[in-house]
Amino acid sequence: MTKKLYISTYGCQMNVYDSARMADIMAPLGYSLTEEPADADMAILNTCHIREKASEKTFSELGRLRKFRSARQSRDDSDMIIAVAGCVAQAEGDEIMKRAPYVNMVFGPQSYHLLPQMVAEANRGVGRILETDFPVEPKFDHLPDTAIDTNLSAFLTVQEGCDKFCAFCVVPYTRGAEFSRPARAITDEAKRMIAGGTREITLLGQNVNAYHGADADGEPVSLARLIKDLAELDGLDRLRYTTSHPLEMTEELCQAHRDVDILMPYLHLPVQAGSDRILAAMNRRHTASDYRHIIEKLRKYRPDLALSGDFIVGFPGETDADFEATLQLVRDVGYSQAYSFKYSPRPGTPAAGLASEMVPEPVKSERLARLQALLNEQQIAYNREFVGREIDVLLEREGKRDGQLVGRSPYMQSVFVPSPAHRIGRIATVIVQEGNANSLRGELKPGSVADAA
Ligand code: SAH
Ligand code: SF4
Ligand code: F3S
Repeated sequence: MTKKLYISTYGCQMNVYDSARMADIMAPLGYSLTEEPADADMAILNTCHIREKASEKTFSELGRLRKFRSARQSRDDSDMIIAVAGCVAQAEGDEIMKRAPYVNMVFGPQSYHLLPQMVAEANRGVGRILETDFPVEPKFDHLPDTAIDTNLSAFLTVQEGCDKFCAFCVVPYTRGAEFSRPARAITDEAKRMIAGGTREITLLGQNVNAYHGADADGEPVSLARLIKDLAELDGLDRLRYTTSHPLEMTEELCQAHRDVDILMPYLHLPVQAGSDRILAAMNRRHTASDYRHIIEKLRKYRPDLALSGDFIVGFPGETDADFEATLQLVRDVGYSQAYSFKYSPRPGTPAAGLASEMVPEPVKSERLARLQALLNEQQIAYNREFVGREIDVLLEREGKRDGQLVGRSPYMQSVFVPSPAHRIGRIATVIVQEGNANSLRGELKPGSVADAA
């Protein structure tokens, strides 16, 4: 008998990847995915702890699931296992157990391979389960290798955890120490994805460019080497990687942007701030000018590289002058898109202890608005420059309108084109007609994509 599994995913791409793997592990136990929490025999919230707002969603979502469970119980006496996974589970496991006594199990990101065991225990009525240790054996060794993400564009985790300890960030605590998967496990997984129809792979890691997995002889393999090896695989058309740290942007990796044709000309390289004083307080371990130099080098090797970044405004002690330095860095670098956030104090992180230096909320809001206005301006200008140009688009899925498909450009822009659905999965040349804030619009270049036989 098949059972229904509902998974709700918050946070970064690694959580998206993890949710897919949890679905894979549960499939042999008879669970198939549902989009409807009301029908679920088991519901997993895969949570994010990065900022307070993200974290707070956990409890409101749990309240919603609890109502669905009660409705099931009073309707036909069926039950629902409620589980909390992800980074809030890791950081606040005890508190969830206390505040939400109706939750059956809470487990951190390093315990997903234990799911079958935990579900069996829950079904036997063993009691509530809290699993937030960092097991010695890496979970990747215990995940089923039949599992594949067969999306046209798919994520593949190669590295997890972080040893950088930026003063604001919870990731080293929620994901644990840096760990790189062996190169062979990654190429094998990539092959299975390609066999299942994947044409674009994004390599994932909290510090993906710190990747140093072992080859068959136990020798460390760099991310650049891994990218070159994956680029040899038949049937793979596009590669990307995210998220990178400036300190790990090696010469070899910068050159890969020149040498590997399927490595897409887009890089997400967070800098967080433009003031050296703040960068030091954040424990980023590089200066603004180090970052500028890396960008210069990358653009020398790949002049058309599109750049994205992350920014935090209102870090404790940030002055107007510090913030101006961030704006100046943004003007100097020029981003095709970027993410920016108000600093959010996170329990247990060093910066959260700098109470006397907290920047008032209205100041943070005002700075964020100014930064976002500048970033938006750059993004629109970037997209407008594409009008009249031809770009390759991997047509991924149907758009909102009838007869419309949407895909990504090499530069990560969403591109909308009128096209019949049978062209999904193809890389087509698109003549760009419109560049908007968040997307491009165009039409297929006649003859650029063959119709299906
Ligand atoms: N590993 C990546 C990204 C980690 S989290 C890196 O090193 O860059 C994604 C982004 O969230 C960060 O780049 C940062 O901009 C933001 N972020 C992390 N902690 C935050 C906090 N406490 N308050 C506000 N933004 C935060
Ligand atoms: Fe967090 Fe810094 Fe590690 Fe990125 S490098 S995950 S921001 S601690
Ligand atoms: Fe959030 Fe954890 Fe990712 S805190 S950003 S889900 S690593």
